[in-house]
Amino acid sequence: MSSIERLTKMKIINVVGARPNFMKVGPLMKVMDALIVHTGQHYDENMSGSFFRDLEIPKPDYNLGVGSGSHAVQTAKIMIKFEKVCLKERPDLVLVVGDVNSTIACALVAVKLGIKVAHVEAGLRSFDRTMPEEINRILTDSISDYLFVTEQSGMDNLKNEGIPDDKVFFVGDIMIDSLLSVLDKIKDKETFKKYGLEKENYVVSTLHRPSNVDNKEVLSRILDAFEHVQKKIKIVLALHPRTKKNIEKFGLNEKIKNIVITEPLDYINFMNLVLNCKFLLTDSGSIQSESTYLGKPCITIRENTERPVTITEGTNVLVGTDCKKIIEMSEKILNGQWKKGSIPKFYDGHTAERIVEALK
Ligand code: UD1
Repeated sequence: MSSIERLTKMKIINVVGARPNFMKVGPLMKVMDALIVHTGQHYDENMSGSFFRDLEIPKPDYNLGVGSGSHAVQTAKIMIKFEKVCLKERPDLVLVVGDVNSTIACALVAVKLGIKVAHVEAGLRSFDRTMPEEINRILTDSISDYLFVTEQSGMDNLKNEGIPDDKVFFVGDIMIDSLLSVLDKIKDKETFKKYGLEKENYVVSTLHRPSNVDNKEVLSRILDAFEHVQKKIKIVLALHPRTKKNIEKFGLNEKIKNIVITEPLDYINFMNLVLNCKFLLTDSGSIQSESTYLGKPCITIRENTERPVTITEGTNVLVGTDCKKIIEMSEKILNGQWKKGSIPKFYDGHTAERIVEALK
């Protein structure tokens, strides 16, 4: 019997909300029969719609259309609307992914209705409670029944928090399933040419963490570092809406005049930029894993990471927001002095299958 048939006896709702969720649910929809609820936390075409097409994710059965708001407003709106869906559909299992507000909101609704909760990407910890995602991770893991973990550090963290072993499954990083499923399409593109860039001769950047972009001084410092780096190698920055707004609000437009700016890109075009770049300058969580898989040097503009395997085994290095360090590390890469890195355990494109096996 195929995986899909074996799981059809269970009614499952897979929840997605924000951009980094889509590549985590896409691979699951290929191997399980489930409803999709999109909370609408992200709603722009480039932050949401294009990912459904690129990753061939079926259209959501429900779109809660909650949109943006403060943490409390956004989380509360999702809860109110998601409870109605759960009461109507009466699922056996609600599956949430990642660490965004939609993740904790839907997990909390489900557990209070006596519905089992599965969390994909459980156990990751930055140990930085000023990050909204860290609170979402800790709370979601503490109320989940099935915890699917991406790397050994996640297993250790859950053990330390007293989560029983029989709830926890080491399955690997499901984003690599997504990446491998469309790698040929990514290779077929030449997105970098569209932006006037040469293969292996530019830097891909993303910035969106509140701690980096909501404070004028910090954002300004990071952009000063970019100004230095771009004298040696071109930088393309895929500008997140939060960052765009703040650059305008803080009057920092002048500081990005030498950088190639794009809208947030769809998955395939963005990953084509990543595949052909020299290195990455980012504060993203997901890109640390993707660059490690692709063997691309990654400079992470954060003090901590919830994905330590990308440092111990992969190509990632943390630099915080220190302008000097960003420049120093960039020069190290340009001088050919970067670590090689290896591919971590279960970064193999079969994570979705392991999750379905465990749920059976
Ligand atoms: C959210 C997640 C973060 C994830 C990030 C990826 C939480 C707490 N944070 O942060 O973990 O890494 O998504 O992008 O869940 N906006 C648009 N269009 C959209 C979505 C948002 O213009 O489609 C603008 C809105 O003005 C909004 C701002 O971006 O106020 C921030 O969006 P929000 O969902 O609050 O958080 P992100 O910073 O995107």
